Amino acid sequence: MSAHKLAVFGNPVSHSRSPEIHQAFARQAGIRVDYERIYAPLDGFESEVTKFMEAGGTGFNVTLPFKEQAYRMMGACSDGARASGAVNTVTIRSGRLIGDNTDGPGLIRDIIRNLKWPLKDQRILVLGAGGAVRGILWALLQEEPAGVDLFNRTPQRAQDLVDHYRDSRLQSVKALRGPYDLIINGTSAGLRGEFPGLPDGVVEEGTRCYDMVYSRERTPFIDWCREKACQEHADGLGMLVEQAAESFSIWFEFHPDTAPVIQDLKAPSKSS
Ligand code: ATR
Repeated sequence: MSAHKLAVFGNPVSHSRSPEIHQAFARQAGIRVDYERIYAPLDGFESEVTKFMEAGGTGFNVTLPFKEQAYRMMGACSDGARASGAVNTVTIRSGRLIGDNTDGPGLIRDIIRNLKWPLKDQRILVLGAGGAVRGILWALLQEEPAGVDLFNRTPQRAQDLVDHYRDSRLQSVKALRGPYDLIINGTSAGLRGEFPGLPDGVVEEGTRCYDMVYSRERTPFIDWCREKACQEHADGLGMLVEQAAESFSIWFEFHPDTAPVIQDLKAPSKSS
């Protein structure tokens, strides 16, 4: 049985845990995959994809900063990819590129199935307005929240996203009031160890906080949530594994069991 040739393209990409996650899924499915990290120069994504296709690639993931560019290269797209204008999962079929976006579904699955937090009728605050947030708003709105407020350091970017989605439940806010039931951090501030903090009024006893960033150390946003005694908090490890599971299921029509993979990635022996 020959291995299915898969990859993740990014810049940077050396930190990506996708290869180990997909190898774990492949063991569950009883198939062989060859999943590599491919570093693409900022102006060289398209040519790297062409090389990969010529080498017999069957599918790939896309990470920062190429998700929007990937979207523009697709021959066909899922509704979620079209709505967000970003692609993180590509299937190669007869030389044609088919794009999906599993970031949103991965986040929703982690929140609803793993964490068992509600989304329907919830008052949600999303921090950030970059590519990461663009990719999840469509899926979030599908869950019928009471409202989603978008807050960004540069307000115009939040307004641009609101204009793009044109959904009455989504609005950009310049001044934060709250309180919110759920706060989702989609900024990249935590990657540099920063989190500017939020006014006290945004949290109340029942507020839950989700950091889309996953890092091996506790993120500044999670530290802030603990300080404010939020009801529950979670980082983006579950989302990382769930979005990968959604990709795997698109490629192989096999939905892996994510719980043992999440546990395994949390294990201290893997965190060095
Ligand atoms: P990504 O694709 O990861 O979302 P991005 O498009 O560069 O990357 O967006 C990063 C997001 O994090 C933006 O919302 C950014 O705010 P700006 O639009 O004002 O740049 C936000 N961000 C990054 N560093 C931040 C910081 N120190 N404080 C607040 N927001 C920050």
